[in-house]
Amino acid sequence: MTLVKSIPKTPESRISFTEYQRYDEIRQYLSQLASSYPSTVTVQTIGQTYEGRPLDIIQISSGGDGSRPVILIDAGIHAREWIAPAAALYVINQLVENTAESALTDSVDWHIIPVLNPDGYEYTFTDERMWRKTRSRASILCTGVDGNRNFDFHWNEVGASSYPCSDTYAGSEAFSESETQALRDYILANANRIKLYLTFHSYGPYLLYPWGYTSELPDDWETLDALARQADAAQQAAGGPSYAIGSSTNVLYAAAGGSDDWTKGVGGVALSYTIELPGGGSQGFNPPASDILNLVTPFFEAVRVFGQYVADNYG
Ligand code: ARG
Ligand code: ZN
Repeated sequence: MTLVKSIPKTPESRISFTEYQRYDEIRQYLSQLASSYPSTVTVQTIGQTYEGRPLDIIQISSGGDGSRPVILIDAGIHAREWIAPAAALYVINQLVENTAESALTDSVDWHIIPVLNPDGYEYTFTDERMWRKTRSRASILCTGVDGNRNFDFHWNEVGASSYPCSDTYAGSEAFSESETQALRDYILANANRIKLYLTFHSYGPYLLYPWGYTSELPDDWETLDALARQADAAQQAAGGPSYAIGSSTNVLYAAAGGSDDWTKGVGGVALSYTIELPGGGSQGFNPPASDILNLVTPFFEAVRVFGQYVADNYG
């Protein structure tokens, strides 16, 4: 009888950054991380989408029994912005699997929702690549709400539409969407710990801070601005492009009901940013999969600056 030794599966290759991942594959990756790193990784479901998909959050913590400051990140509230979930996955990958990055989790916990609108995200794979909204059907006219116009802070005042067929439809009321409700409830439940919020979008590159509902600036805009400039410089030094920096109204356009404004204005998280990653492909939202790593690798250096800032100031 011959004994054949089984070859252990390599711990690498749990996720690929040369392809965009479907939502099921993303969920599988998170649960693999939870079983491979039980002392640092927890995956929770924070709600369900309109079509019944679980909304997963990964919590990365090296200790501290839930007392450490939290950086909250989400991506993919806009379905077609595929580089945003890819960037969130890269951040997860580095924080959990790259032992060289362990300093980033020494005193700070990271809570990351890699796809906040999985119904829309899946729809961009199966039906319509340029779909942006959720997939809820409150109106007989048209499907979907712009999740980033659905938050209850100066809701539907500017840069949003009351017309259900518009790509910037604010919804029948604020927080009409289960996806935005889930984020709201998570932020409110963890408000004392969340020190910094990043929502990943594309395409820019822009590093935006509140407000989106007015051209006036928050009192602490200089802190927001200085930190953004530091993050931009770090990713530029790693080969990234120059990000335009400022309040979203002043740099991009006025649009109320965004998650960044609500998180700062109601959620009480002072440091709140929308990051528009660089564009690519024929329509800006569709960089080829072969470019993912080239985009997300320098970008990680910006994320590192945010992590370092929270560690230095709250850790
Ligand atoms: N492109 C993003 C959007 O249209 C920018 C959001 C900036 N934030 C804001 N509150 N308007 O949703
Ligand atoms: Zn977007």
